[in-house]
Amino acid sequence: MAEPARRLEPAGSSAAPLVRVENLVKHFGAGLGTSVKAVDGVSFDIREGETLGLVGESGCGKSTLGRLITQLIPATSGSVSFDDVELTKLRGEKLRQQRRQLQMIFQDPFGSLDPRMTVGDIIRSCSGSSVSIRTSTIATRTSSAVASASASASPGRWP
Ligand SMILES: Nc1ncnc2c1ncn2[C@@H]1O[C@H](COP(=O)(O)OP(=O)(O)OP(=O)(O)O)[C@@H](O)[C@H]1O
Ligand SMILES: [Mg+2]
Repeated sequence: MAEPARRLEPAGSSAAPLVRVENLVKHFGAGLGTSVKAVDGVSFDIREGETLGLVGESGCGKSTLGRLITQLIPATSGSVSFDDVELTKLRGEKLRQQRRQLQMIFQDPFGSLDPRMTVGDIIRSCSGSSVSIRTSTIATRTSSAVASASASASPGRWP
């Protein structure tokens, strides 16, 4: 996740953020003086009632960001605050109290995919629902999406 620091602000929103992430960085040591920049300067706010979706390819740092926000792992640098309380500096009982308000729900790919649909059916069901796209275009896009996910996968495979 090597995006430059960027704050996402919903238009016209003035309420104080519930979650504020500022310039958050996590570098993992990878031996021989090298490091993996799993999260590299991420900033955003989440206000009460808002939902933030984080989407990206495998290994781009989504889970690491979740672990940093919930303080399951320490940040290399940067700040995470919840309800105006800076979490990265809390330790012991104070951290445990704040953690009660934060929860991570781990991804379950089998719960996310319909076992009655092939991989191709699932991808095709996202295409053309809101706009009119030619069937041949959908087929091409489906094949290319499956190929980009895995060299050995095919649209006819089951999840
Ligand atoms: N404890 C760790 N030690 C070293 N490297 C790690 C550690 N945890 C994660 N990484 C590396 O950090 C990068 C980001 O990993 P992360 O698990 O956050 O990605 P992700 O976006 O959640 O991927 P996925 O979609 O597959 O769950 C990867 O290169 C991963 O190998
Ligand atoms: Mg993950």
